[in-house]
Amino acid sequence: MIKKRVAIILAAGKGTRMRSRLTKVLHPLLGRPLLSYPMDASRGAGVDEVVAVVGHGGDDVKAAFEGAALSFATQSEQLGTAHAVLSAKELVGSAAGVALILSGDVPLIRPDTLSALLEAHQSSSRRVTLLSMVPDDPTGYGRLIYENGSLVGVVEERDANEKERELTEVNTGTYAVDLPWLWDALERIGRDNEQGEYYLTDIIGIAAKEGGAGAIKLKDNDEAMGVNDRVQLARAQMLMRERINGELMLSGVTFEDPSSAWVEPMVTIAPDVTIGSNVKLCGATKIGEGATIGQGSVITDSAIGEAAEIKPYSVILEAAVSPSAKIGPFAHLRPGARVGEEARVGNFVEVKNSILHKGVKASHLSYLGDSEIGEGTNIGAGTITCNYDGFNKFKTNIGQGAFIGSNSSLVAPVEIGDGATVGAGSIITSKVEAGALGVSRAKQRNIPGWKRPVKREG
Ligand code: UD1
Ligand code: CA
Repeated sequence: MIKKRVAIILAAGKGTRMRSRLTKVLHPLLGRPLLSYPMDASRGAGVDEVVAVVGHGGDDVKAAFEGAALSFATQSEQLGTAHAVLSAKELVGSAAGVALILSGDVPLIRPDTLSALLEAHQSSSRRVTLLSMVPDDPTGYGRLIYENGSLVGVVEERDANEKERELTEVNTGTYAVDLPWLWDALERIGRDNEQGEYYLTDIIGIAAKEGGAGAIKLKDNDEAMGVNDRVQLARAQMLMRERINGELMLSGVTFEDPSSAWVEPMVTIAPDVTIGSNVKLCGATKIGEGATIGQGSVITDSAIGEAAEIKPYSVILEAAVSPSAKIGPFAHLRPGARVGEEARVGNFVEVKNSILHKGVKASHLSYLGDSEIGEGTNIGAGTITCNYDGFNKFKTNIGQGAFIGSNSSLVAPVEIGDGATVGAGSIITSKVEAGALGVSRAKQRNIPGWKRPVKREG
């Protein structure tokens, strides 16, 4: 029989030390709320269901995770970790299975570690298996107590005697527990301790008498690092960056300076991509094989094609760049920009909601908004699509093989046919037919022998 595996993530605490209006588990780590990390790690370990126990800022947490595969139990008063878990009883139900219990503020826990914990638990006859570690400094953690080699309890730092405080193996706050035994055990826990709280750790003592308790040791202690303040948040983020960038390097990505590159967890990068220093890749960005991302570029929720070249300091948001296109330096692609194969968007060019077909060149100083530009067309320096009358947005359509002279204003809605030419400096307000020249600038006149004004004496 396959038993149900449920993750219960404790996230009702206040997070006072964050000194923030924002609930602790919503603070972003590499662009994603803290809580999403233990949630994804549990999913990665194959749990069927994830329940988050929320309290402080609970409504905000629910709103932030709307639509996610996650349900919420509310603990309105924070009476301790056992009480928190018990709040999930109704949602989880009384079916047989295993509960994986973890903290919402421990973001570095790996799916493999949780799988190993579940595995170790399910291949034993124990009631509880907890994840322990031996840190450099055990201060503040609950200590594991063994008798004749068996785990018989966990004693909190504040309740421990001097001898117990010398113990070095501690509780990480991550457990695999039999269901429905858990509920019965929790209901028998009291609050007779230094903090007057219902301690989840008391299930160890109960389990020891009713089928057994045990522990497996964490290999990389950083995984259990809790985030209680913004210094720890920054440190956890740095470790997560190291982890992500390290995995990417091993998969074939070159980083010019891995310590300064920011790659968020949902980003995917193909082999033979080169990432410059201070690059930021955010959201669901995808980078194709052999692409180059130049120094200081910021790319969010965008797709960059194979062998595309993003030159330094380009900013790209919700846009798509086709293979072998060249962008930047200092280009700005905004939502809905689609740049075709081998197209070129050069310095100080802004593109929004526009399709630039294959081989289009817009090399300098332009604004292209709400437009479609046909294959091979050349957009001269300083070309502006005047798409906005202060109220409505209009479209500019430019055909294939057209040539737009420098410093032209294309007042939308307007159409420029295939192979048409627009003279430099023109203000185009009506259609230029295919193959025609549209020019609308004042005719030049020269006045011979012109005397420049001179400075008057006295
Ligand atoms: C807990 C363990 C301790 C372990 C340590 C690891 C207990 C009694 N002790 O102590 O053995 O070494 O974690 O970090 O469990 N929470 C709620 N509701 C509550 C209380 C807590 O949701 O009423 C949540 C917190 O938001 C947090 C987690 O549970 O995410 C752990 O609570 P915390 O108070 O930090 O426990 P510790 O004192 O660190
Ligand atoms: Ca804690």
